[in-house]
Amino acid sequence: MRWPRLYAPQPIIEERGDDFFIPPYPKPLTHDLGLIEIVLRAHRSLLAVWPQKYYRSCIDEFRILRRQVVVVNTPEHVRYVMITRNANFERKSPQMRRALAPLLGDGLFISDGETWKRRRPLIADVIHKRRMKEFAPTMTQVAEATVKRWDAIGPDREIVMLSEMATLTAEIISRTVFGSALGAEAASRVIEGFTAYQQGVDSFNLGYFLGADEGWPIVLGRGRKRAIDMVHGVVDEVVRAHMEGAGEAGSLLDLMIRRKLGEGSDALDAAALRNEAATIFMAGHETTATALTWAWYLLANAPWAEKRLLEEIKSVCGDAPIGLEQVGQLKWCRAVIMETLRLYPPVPLLPRQAREADQIGDVSVQKGALIIISPWLLQRAEDLWEQPNHFAPERFMEGKQVNPFAYIPFAVGPRICAGLNFGLDESILCLATLARRFRVEPQTDYRADPFCHLTLRPAGGVPARLIPRTARANH
Ligand code: HEM
Repeated sequence: MRWPRLYAPQPIIEERGDDFFIPPYPKPLTHDLGLIEIVLRAHRSLLAVWPQKYYRSCIDEFRILRRQVVVVNTPEHVRYVMITRNANFERKSPQMRRALAPLLGDGLFISDGETWKRRRPLIADVIHKRRMKEFAPTMTQVAEATVKRWDAIGPDREIVMLSEMATLTAEIISRTVFGSALGAEAASRVIEGFTAYQQGVDSFNLGYFLGADEGWPIVLGRGRKRAIDMVHGVVDEVVRAHMEGAGEAGSLLDLMIRRKLGEGSDALDAAALRNEAATIFMAGHETTATALTWAWYLLANAPWAEKRLLEEIKSVCGDAPIGLEQVGQLKWCRAVIMETLRLYPPVPLLPRQAREADQIGDVSVQKGALIIISPWLLQRAEDLWEQPNHFAPERFMEGKQVNPFAYIPFAVGPRICAGLNFGLDESILCLATLARRFRVEPQTDYRADPFCHLTLRPAGGVPARLIPRTARANH
């Protein structure tokens, strides 16, 4: 089929050899885009709008209708926006706020100003790395239960890795946030609700580009209203139970309540708790699930990296359950995850709105401008990374230098991901627990084409078979 250029899909590049793998990425565009082309391409995937010139460090501006858009793609200017002038650029874009507010209310991910300032220390504290000791046993249990489930599936049935990983991480986050009392039925309602909601999210708010600084309210269809009801229904019930003292001690919700997150009227208490619980649930399960899915695809195509991974797991962990202590010693496994997050950052765009006029490098920024910082572009910049499109975990091994402002899969500065350590340790623990028991074999001829609406996912979710590793194959 011949597509008109405006929305012709970009060719996908993927190359492999005996000792290298260049995983799939869209061939950068060779021309600048007009408005209609941006809109059409962005609707398909937010990765499909970037010409070649952005795949190196640069700062650039253009207009979409009446709105100035500034692309900030150098480590130095990322630092300026995210740290030096964070107060002016902490606000998420109206598209993102409008798209997520019906579900997350004033939850941390999309709040700013006083609300954010008041809640960030509390949320950051309840999911702080210090608490990983409390959460890790749940992670180990859920990962081990997945080993059993995969054993039962057997090697002949095809599964979709993204769904498998979403089930795994949603179970971990729901048990840590709500406590194990949530129950399978309620957990699957929450997961289904989040998935349905995200499918309907459109990140383009026309009103904002026409000049309305707060964007236009979005209209929710029946499907998304139902999705919100599903999530809120379950979360409200759990919050109520916890507030009445019936919740599980030690869950994140319990910690939030004990730390008096919701001081004030009862109604506000419950709403604030619901928003923060829903935020942690959403921010914390989808991201880790996509990271793990990409890691499986990369390992399946890079046998030398997988071999080293298995050797490391065997020497550090043997056959014993994998907990936090082992996670700290699995250096190659960590490097594989870090490299996965470089190539496929689950949150590939960090859009901000300038509160006031500012100056970023040579660009005079207007009040209300859309500022785009993109881990996707920055982490593939050809002048910042050697062989930027190669899968090469060794760049994250000890002794190697990585510029912290060129590698930002968790963002950087005061708004850095509050669950960074949770997400990293969880990914390593789950990958190691499952990889030593199973080889994931993607469907023949399947290629994981990356695309992005809210998060960066592999199209088709990586259909694969789970091949048990025999004791011999492990060696
Ligand atoms: C590999 C896994 C993860 C990745 C790549 C990731 C990435 C990110 C990024 C990029 C942001 C900032 C977005 C922005 O500034 O626009 C963020 C924020 C956040 N993340 Fe994560 N995340 C991960 C896992 C988690 C987990 C497991 C949790 C919770 C347990 C979590 C909780 C949060 C919260 C609460 C925020 C909002 C922080 C704030 O605005 O102050 N994340 N995450």
